[in-house]
Amino acid sequence: MRSVILTGFMGTGKSSVGKLLAARLGYRFVDLDEVISARAGATINDIFATHGEDHFRALEAEEVRLLPDGGGMVVSTGGGAVIDPRNRSHLRSLGVVVNLTASAGEIVRRLRTEQDRPLLRDDKSLEKIGAMLAVREPFYADADLRIETDGRDVEEILEEILLWLKKWEGQWKV
Ligand code: S3P
Repeated sequence: MRSVILTGFMGTGKSSVGKLLAARLGYRFVDLDEVISARAGATINDIFATHGEDHFRALEAEEVRLLPDGGGMVVSTGGGAVIDPRNRSHLRSLGVVVNLTASAGEIVRRLRTEQDRPLLRDDKSLEKIGAMLAVREPFYADADLRIETDGRDVEEILEEILLWLKKWEGQWKV
């Protein structure tokens, strides 16, 4: 019983899919940003505003390192967690990596009224998101399964992951 690690850009649905997936598998759901925020005693916005992105990345790397490797977890990672190669290799060692994708246009629509993404605070344009997606694409591509989420609801995405997990390893409880 290994863990399932969800990666993907902001707004691709990692947390919503992750919670449901954990419930279906009977696994523990871990939201990495919530863990970082709880340990720091501050919101992600506040951590960025007070200490900057580098500090946030250091906290993020630390929490990735602390994830237990006993399996049985669905982990939703922050959109930038896969930039650091050490994070990627540690996350991969914990189980299967499932990357959720969405087009830049869809992400713009989903995050339009969002206030909790410090990296998009001043600019949520198609150009900005498209450029970030392009830079991060090789890191997101480093996954066992990639799922397109444009125009699909959470249930559909969930079923696709469960089906894949079932095929991938007979031991998954689905
Ligand atoms: C970030 C994504 C956020 C959060 C932080 C940085 C990123 O998580 O970790 O604001 O670099 O893409 P979500 O992907 O859950 O929004």
